[in-house]
Amino acid sequence: MKCTFLQKGDVPHALRLAFILLCMLSFTLDTFAQEAATVCLQCHSSQTGRGGQVVQPWKSSIHAENGISCHDCHGGDPMDATNAMSPARGFLGVPKETDVPAFCGRCHVGILADYRQSAHGQALGKGGPTCVTCHGSHDIKKVTLDLINEKSCSRCHPYERAAKIKAAMKETERQIVDIGEKLSRFKGEGVDTESTDKGLFSIRNTYHRLFHEVNTPRVTSESSKLQGELAKIDQSLQKLDEQRAKRKLAGAFVVAGALVAALLFHLLRKTYGNNRDG
Ligand code: HEC
Ligand code: HEC
Ligand code: HEC
Ligand code: HEC
Ligand code: HEC
Repeated sequence: MKCTFLQKGDVPHALRLAFILLCMLSFTLDTFAQEAATVCLQCHSSQTGRGGQVVQPWKSSIHAENGISCHDCHGGDPMDATNAMSPARGFLGVPKETDVPAFCGRCHVGILADYRQSAHGQALGKGGPTCVTCHGSHDIKKVTLDLINEKSCSRCHPYERAAKIKAAMKETERQIVDIGEKLSRFKGEGVDTESTDKGLFSIRNTYHRLFHEVNTPRVTSESSKLQGELAKIDQSLQKLDEQRAKRKLAGAFVVAGALVAALLFHLLRKTYGNNRDG
């Protein structure tokens, strides 16, 4: 927090006082956050070589965003600077290439299982990709289908097989996003969408688990099954939309009717009043 606009005369006295208090609070919070950081981060942040280069990429990763820090992957003691990297404190070091899937799979259990039985997992150590080949290690971001691209997937074999998987998944993804947007619109208008939400959530999970088997026939058939289920949800939402449109129209008629009635009443009263006066 910048505390520079505290010159006399810039702002009224009370406001300045409040601002000073706010600055003090933010300073305390900053110090607190620094203390909460691990010894791994403190020491590695000040390194210039390969030990320090990983810190910035990690800071903007989905892992940092979710509180997964150095020691969660590499082990060790994040509170004790002298013994931080001692194997006795669970330090794992840097995994060998063939150990990478198990290293990541401690947390991503289902994905590890799918990967293991895939053609990629079978080729581990024999030219097959590991998790970090596709996702990186410290700069890991939230996934999108852009991970399947010509540059990354044609390094070891023709791109065509990747393109087929991507095409099948892309259409499913489009429908999921589309229905997700419709649902949040309905929700904004106060409609109860809970059961549809659950259905979409389960479809989304199945969809995101499809990739790591890299089994093109299965991805294609599962995708078209999911697309069928999505189409059904979409139809039910369309029906809901039509019902709401009808109800709105009916509502408009009632309002219009009431207005006409009020107008008639007013005219009648005027006529009656005029007659009485005259
Ligand atoms: C007191 C400073 C310090 C602390 C604390 C520290 N490290 Fe290190 N770490 C280093 C240095 C120095 C290297 C060697 C870097 C190099 O080779 O350029 C290193 C290397 C590493 C490596 C690479 C090891 C290898 O085999 O190449 C990993 C992984 C690592 N640290 C993780 C951690 C984790 C996780 C923590 C906290 C539990 C931690 N470090 C705490 C200084 C520290
Ligand atoms: C999501 C798990 C994960 C997290 C979090 C993580 N690392 Fe790593 N780290 C790895 C993997 C996997 C490798 C092996 C490198 C590779 O194969 O690309 C690695 C390699 C390293 C290396 C060796 C780099 C080299 O060029 O030889 C160092 C040093 C390191 N990590 C330190 C850290 C520090 C410090 C942090 C915290 C800022 C951290 N790591 C956070 C997974 C992680
Ligand atoms: C050949 C490249 C490749 C390899 C190898 C790979 N992934 Fe992926 N991963 C992807 C792609 C592509 C997606 C995105 C699929 C999608 O959009 O649903 C993805 C998605 C993910 C997701 C998000 C899943 C979700 O439910 O949202 C995680 C987590 C993940 N991978 C972790 C891993 C781990 C752990 C490994 C190693 C065991 C691994 N990946 C190996 C390419 C790969
Ligand atoms: C200590 C547990 C842990 C380890 C080890 C770990 N991750 Fe994660 N990972 C998480 C958490 C928690 C998230 C965020 C929540 C989520 O999306 O699942 C995440 C998210 C991800 C995502 C983004 C998923 C999405 O929704 O888009 C990818 C990709 C990923 N991790 C890959 C890896 C890879 C590759 C490794 C090994 C280098 C690894 N993870 C190691 C816990 C871990
Ligand atoms: C580091 C090398 C490497 C990279 C990178 C790579 N693959 Fe592969 N892939 C292999 C190997 C090895 C096989 C198994 C032998 C073969 O079929 O050629 C394979 C097989 C496949 C198969 C056939 C699976 C089967 O059961 O027949 C598909 C589909 C595939 N990969 C998709 C992809 C996609 C999509 C990407 C990019 C996200 C990708 N690959 C990136 C090495 C790689």
